[in-house]
Amino acid sequence: MSKNTYYITTPIYYPSDKLHIGHTYCTVATDAMARYKRMRGYDVLMLTGTDEHGQKIEENAKRAGMTPKEFVDRIVEGEGGIYDLWKLMNISYDRYIRTTDDYHVSAIQKIFRALYDRGAIYKSVYAGKYCTPCESFWTESQLTDGNCPDCSRPVVDAEEEAYFFRLSEYTDKILNLYEEHPEFLLPVSRKNEMVNNFLKPGLSDLCVSRTSFTWGVPVDFDPGHVVYVWIDALFNYTTALGYQNDRYHDFEKFWPADVHFVGKEIVRFHSIIWPAMLMALDLPLPKQVFGHGWLLFDGGKMSKSKGNVIDPYILASRYGTDALRYFLLREFPFGSDGNFSNELLITRINTDLANDLGNLVSRTVAMVEKYFDGTLPEMQDPSPEDDDLISMATALRALYEEKMEVFAFQEALVEVFKVTTRANKYIDETAPWVLAKDEAQKTRLARVLYNLLETIRITTSLLLPFTPESCEKAWKQIGADPSICNWDSAATFGLLPHTVTVQKGESLFPRIDLAKELEALEN
Ligand code: ME8
Ligand code: MG
Repeated sequence: MSKNTYYITTPIYYPSDKLHIGHTYCTVATDAMARYKRMRGYDVLMLTGTDEHGQKIEENAKRAGMTPKEFVDRIVEGEGGIYDLWKLMNISYDRYIRTTDDYHVSAIQKIFRALYDRGAIYKSVYAGKYCTPCESFWTESQLTDGNCPDCSRPVVDAEEEAYFFRLSEYTDKILNLYEEHPEFLLPVSRKNEMVNNFLKPGLSDLCVSRTSFTWGVPVDFDPGHVVYVWIDALFNYTTALGYQNDRYHDFEKFWPADVHFVGKEIVRFHSIIWPAMLMALDLPLPKQVFGHGWLLFDGGKMSKSKGNVIDPYILASRYGTDALRYFLLREFPFGSDGNFSNELLITRINTDLANDLGNLVSRTVAMVEKYFDGTLPEMQDPSPEDDDLISMATALRALYEEKMEVFAFQEALVEVFKVTTRANKYIDETAPWVLAKDEAQKTRLARVLYNLLETIRITTSLLLPFTPESCEKAWKQIGADPSICNWDSAATFGLLPHTVTVQKGESLFPRIDLAKELEALEN
């Protein structure tokens, strides 16, 4: 039997000068979900990429004295660029799309033409404001105090030819979609926002071509027009599978997408415009769109222009990729905004990873070394004192699954750490150092240490999507073969060989000196 497929996407990023911790957030979440589904046995395709067309990029390139292609190449492929960042963050994407790739460009031309041939797109005139010295066309809302936002000079009323998508015909269809598929757009708050702000007032047709700049996909049947960057961008999710091109052949297999993860400011594009365009082409709709929140910094959205950009390179190199990945998904509920601070980051790493999990692993391994030279002897059966720990560890997988299936990463991690905390308390309750003093208690002591090793095996099996490298290191230390550290074995207690041999290793998550680090980061 062939495996079930799972297709998950991140937004494709604008190659702005530097991606920051906010971008990293969504990609890490997508990666954790992709790894989770792989662990569940799905045939997963995780897509990410870059959105490389548009006026903003054309202008930034000009300012940098480069062609737009040179400019985006440097940011995507160059040292410290986007490929490097995803490598650093250990992102297990299966495919990367660049909208400047030839196969995508020609597919977008075919798609635009198909929409036109079906009558979903029509040519009309676009009325707006024109700045004659700048030769720029602006909408009312783009003006600064009624003047050109670039040069501040007065603008005049003007018209230009443009293509429009008949979005106004889709108001009821999108409302019906939400009604029939309440799971289509999550969290529910985002759906309410779409309904109240855009659908209830009624949708208007959408201008889907531009003539004011050239860095885009040319409309092949009308020179001078380029395809609106959002049409170009949204269809990446299908062209990356091979829709309207021969580069890939996975459209049948993976479309419709299981979920698009997107930030809240682009939910409208993904939950209104995107399904409407797919309907216009009679294509199946994605099963789900999840609009996550923003990481805020000093109360505002993190952005390059505000200068409050937090560099994932600096944080990952100081504290480790896994610690940063863990923090992002543990600290903030995925659907809500969260305030980032260095202090929160360090405190979270110290509390959960260093003191709780890291300490549990190092204490347990050290005790097996100290009391049994690293290899457990034959042991007693469990005693009633062990019941609570064993039943919590055994029940964990089901609780975790329930949270992961609804993208509640934070809650899934809370469940895992309840068990880790319980195991540390179990050490205090059983006091292995007291048992060790009494030769008659050796088989009991072996049982206690075995239970701890098993708890570590189970919790780290389930942490794999979040902190992959550290989990593998932990398995080495507790002497667990990876073949018993997976989904199937995560709900069964007692799979480690009874006479397991541990292997002392480096501390998984060294404790960070908060005051010293804050000083270093903030200066
Ligand atoms: O929007 N916190 O690209 P983009 C959380 N090219 N998420 C953040 C964030 C923050 N501080 N800052 C950015 C685009 N993001 C389009 C997408 S998809 C067909 C086209 C998220 O580079 C943001 O919410 O501006 C968005 O989901 C993603 O980064 C890419 O943003
Ligand atoms: Mg953006």
